[in-house]
Amino acid sequence: MSEQEPPSLSHIGDRRVRIIGSGFREHALFLMTSQSPQIRYIDIAPGNGGTYGFNVNIAATDIEAQAKDAKARGIDTVIVGPEEPLALGIRDRMNTLGIDVFGPTAAQARIESGKWFAIQLMQAAGIPYPETRAFYDESTARRYIKNRFADIVIKENGLRGGKGVHVPDSQEGAYKALEVAFKKGLGKEPVLVQQRITDAIEASFMVLVDGEHVIPLPSAQDYKRIGDGDRGPNTGGVGGFSPTPTITPKLSKRIMQEIMFPMVQELRNRGMQYKGVLYAGLMIDKNGNPIVIEFNCRAGDPEFPIVSVNMQEEIDFLNVVDAVRNGTLTPSHMRFLEGSVSLGIVASSEGYPDTPKTGREIRGLGQVLNEHSFLFHSGTRYTANRFETSGGRVALGVGRGITFREARGRAENVINQVVFDGKQQRGDIGNSVIDLG
Ligand code: GLY
Repeated sequence: MSEQEPPSLSHIGDRRVRIIGSGFREHALFLMTSQSPQIRYIDIAPGNGGTYGFNVNIAATDIEAQAKDAKARGIDTVIVGPEEPLALGIRDRMNTLGIDVFGPTAAQARIESGKWFAIQLMQAAGIPYPETRAFYDESTARRYIKNRFADIVIKENGLRGGKGVHVPDSQEGAYKALEVAFKKGLGKEPVLVQQRITDAIEASFMVLVDGEHVIPLPSAQDYKRIGDGDRGPNTGGVGGFSPTPTITPKLSKRIMQEIMFPMVQELRNRGMQYKGVLYAGLMIDKNGNPIVIEFNCRAGDPEFPIVSVNMQEEIDFLNVVDAVRNGTLTPSHMRFLEGSVSLGIVASSEGYPDTPKTGREIRGLGQVLNEHSFLFHSGTRYTANRFETSGGRVALGVGRGITFREARGRAENVINQVVFDGKQQRGDIGNSVIDLG
């Protein structure tokens, strides 16, 4: 064991739980789960500055070390945040040791790690997606994209942390993106060239799946570009709000009927009982039709923390985890506050997303919060009596309220107090919904 035994919480239960990951999403999962009265022991590997004292210094992707350490500490349930360990088979490995895992198997996680596999699933299930071509060699792809750069996006196969999608703004840029995509290609997996959807609104739609039952979470909108006005390179997401008014209750039903249920059924047809969070990145076109841009095998980050603050307080997240495992999930397992909206703003490091500068002292993380204001960590570490930056996305301030204006005011109040050299932060998160009151 590489760390001292983290402190136990003085709860009455007997459950021993580990969270895997180190982002905002995992900080939220840690906070939610640690409130369960069933918990006797909880830790997070590797965690971040926000979970200091509960961190176990093992990389999320070191499956063997994670498995051995979890076994040694008597962990009974592992909740996995990010896609990489899932794609590497952490559920499969932990299960061999009798440890339950919230998250899909490696075969199921291919819905995210194998972009062409996902397209084939969507095609078989009749799910709407943009016209997509798969290329196995660069010269054929080069010929195809000639004179088309403005109408396409180029997708690297495999997991790229939100940075594997290229939206070229010139023919040269398209050729360059193609070169990069083929260089980073995963063995026999093809590079995809997909029709670019314009004049549409993006939305994130997450569901909980227990192999059979499919329960929607409130929708969200994510902001992917680093700069105000959606300028600059793509990131993992630097802000968002929930629910998005773009997804009306009627559209939500349609997304469930036309996208989520068919996908879970298609997986079942192929012998896969998907368990965990399934996430669809959607474009809603000008006629209100949903089109799937991608499926992810886990919750969104920062969408999940932004959504989670609207959860009813009495929810015991460990009951949700158990219902997913047992195939007994019902809508009552995850209840959300009626009429509450939330909005989050990310503070990121200078140089993010390309070359984030780290090791900078952060002030303002110890601020006093209230029931409407939340602060999640990602690229932070606590060392030598100070917090410092350790990654691209650093802190996420979230506010909730009755209106988006109120929620944004609270989110700004939190994130503006977080200060470090070179901090980047968007000022326009939620502009499109603020006028709705
Ligand atoms: N924020 C986008 C994602 O989690 O994939």
